[in-house]
Amino acid sequence: MKVPFRIIWWAVLVLVLLPMAWLIYNALTGGLGANPIEAINRYLGDWALRLLLIALALTPIRILNKKAWPIRLRRMLGLSAFFYAFAHLSSYVVIDQFFDWAAIWQDIIKRRFITVGMVAVLILLALAITSPASIAKRLGARNWKRLHKLVYLAGALGCLHFFWMVKADIREPVIYGIIFSILMIIRLIESRRKKLVLGDGQ
Ligand code: HEM
Repeated sequence: MKVPFRIIWWAVLVLVLLPMAWLIYNALTGGLGANPIEAINRYLGDWALRLLLIALALTPIRILNKKAWPIRLRRMLGLSAFFYAFAHLSSYVVIDQFFDWAAIWQDIIKRRFITVGMVAVLILLALAITSPASIAKRLGARNWKRLHKLVYLAGALGCLHFFWMVKADIREPVIYGIIFSILMIIRLIESRRKKLVLGDGQ
C-alpha cells in the first residue's frame, strides 16, 4: 500500500514537534533537573543540530535509494531546524543572559563557540526568510540555489560550535562531525559522478 505524501508530511511534522512538547511538559512539571536553564538551552541546541543534519541527509538519502519523495520534506525539516536554533538562541538571550545585551555582545566577540553559533543562526535565518516560493521566484533560481548552499556552512558551524563548547568529553560533537562529513562526502562523490557523466556526453 502506498502511503500518500500528505500523511507522511504531517507525521514528520508531529515528530519534529514532539521534542518541544516534551521540553514544555518537563519544564511545567519540574522534570528538568537541578539546572533547568542549562538543560533547556542544551536540549534545544541538540535538536537544532539534529534536525539540521536530518535536513542535510535528505539529498544523500535520495542519492542512495533513488527515491525523490524525501526531498519534499527538506523545506519543513530545514525550517524546523531554524525553529529549534531560534528557540535555543532565545533561551540563551532570555533565561540565561536576561537580555544583558552588553554581556551577550562580549560573548559573541570573545567566545569563539558563540561567534560561530551566531553566524550559523544568521545563515539559517536568511534561508528561512527566503524559503517561500514567492521569494525564491523573485531571487531567481540560480541566486536562490547559491544562497541555499550556505546550509552546508551552517551545518559545519553547528558542529564546530558544539565541538568548541565542550571542555572535556568530545565524543558527542565528534559523532555529529563524522555524520556531517559522511553526508558531505556522499554529495561530493555524486556531484563528481554527475560531472563525469555530463563530460562523457559532450
Ligand atoms: C547565536 C547563536 C547561538 C548561541 C548564543 C548559542 C549558545 C549556546 C550555549 C550558551 C550553549 C551551552 C553552553 C554551556 O552550557 O556551557 C550552547 C550549546 C549548544 N548549542 Fe548553541 N548557540 C547558538 C547557535 C547554535 C546553533 C545554530 C546550533 C545548531 C545548529 C547550536 C547547537 C548547540 C549544541 C548542539 C549545543 C550543545 C548541547 C549539549 O551540550 O548537548 N547552537 N549553545
